[in-house]
Amino acid sequence: MEALPEAKTADNLFVGGRVVLPGFVDSHTHLVHAASRAEEYELKIAGASYEEIARKGGGILNSVKRVRAATSEALKKRALSALREFAANGTTTLEAKSGYGLDVTSELKILNLHQELLREQPLEIVSTFLGAHVVPTEYRGTPGGPQRYVSMLIHRLIPEVAERKLAEFCDVFCDRGAFSREQSKRILQAGRQWGMLPRLHAEQLSRTGAAQLAVQLKAASCDHLEKVNKSDIQALAKSDTVATLLPGCDFHLGLKEYAPARALIDAGAIVSLATDYNPGTSPTLSMPMILSLACAQLRMTPAEAIAAATINAAYALRREKSIGSLEVGKQADMAVFEVADYREIPYYFGWSHCWMTVKRGRVIHAAEQAPI
Ligand code: NIG
Ligand code: FE
Repeated sequence: MEALPEAKTADNLFVGGRVVLPGFVDSHTHLVHAASRAEEYELKIAGASYEEIARKGGGILNSVKRVRAATSEALKKRALSALREFAANGTTTLEAKSGYGLDVTSELKILNLHQELLREQPLEIVSTFLGAHVVPTEYRGTPGGPQRYVSMLIHRLIPEVAERKLAEFCDVFCDRGAFSREQSKRILQAGRQWGMLPRLHAEQLSRTGAAQLAVQLKAASCDHLEKVNKSDIQALAKSDTVATLLPGCDFHLGLKEYAPARALIDAGAIVSLATDYNPGTSPTLSMPMILSLACAQLRMTPAEAIAAATINAAYALRREKSIGSLEVGKQADMAVFEVADYREIPYYFGWSHCWMTVKRGRVIHAAEQAPI
């Protein structure tokens, strides 16, 4: 280090006695949204399921209404304050999905914001197009409506997003009440033709075969996976498609069935962890909290959980050459924790011990008592 020319002007940061990790890579978030859905939280507690709330006009369509009505400035302000919190919890890179616009103007509004936010603040944002989140209201109620929406995505929106270089990945919510396996396949193939790599919301509410579709399409990741069966686990284990687990959803929705992390890891699948930060199923941006859930509920060891939240997540974003571990030649993305042992990071839950966050060698968050 001392031999590098840049070292002459560098500051020496003393972090003695603390734990230094690669910065967290949060490979699945719905960063840009207009408001919380706290009003639905009470309905959930009283026993309404996620799908019942969605059928009554709540759920994703509720967030879509609010994003369409919101100005870009208001969305940006909310996202910026979330980004500061991500950094304060040790995250240095995050993926961000569109999917609360569901029409040309509003999807472009979200995707343009991803690019603006990437330029104007220090966290790295990896943009994903999720026009296929659900079928929007105006395409419902007529028999051919959903197919017309899929056609609009394939022929109009995907080409436009690609031409403007607004997203690296294309995602589909392939599930009961969202898009079928066949529709998902057509959308993801169109995305790939336009240069966007596929990823999928798969096997969250019901088993649809989406995980095996992800493997077949060589998707970068398939995410959720609560409902996978043995053959899905085998297929994932033999593939390079990352199995991204989102235990914040099950925790928030009060569900008892978490994804089978142990079976996936033991079979040899590449497992990663993410927050799924969104107002409907996982209103958290804390990777340390996700590590606690991974250990307590998914029975992952602290070491497995940390690998899943750093290098494996970097691979899920196909950025394993630049981030996800502390190695010569990679970006210096680091999170420093005020703990004596790395196992204390998940052990203390709901409590951030992140003391300093460094992105590309620059301090972007420091606790009050940190010496900078
Ligand atoms: O990842 N499953 C679909 N999408 C989100 C939820 C979005 C919402 O409810 O607003 C998820 O869980
Ligand atoms: Fe999601």
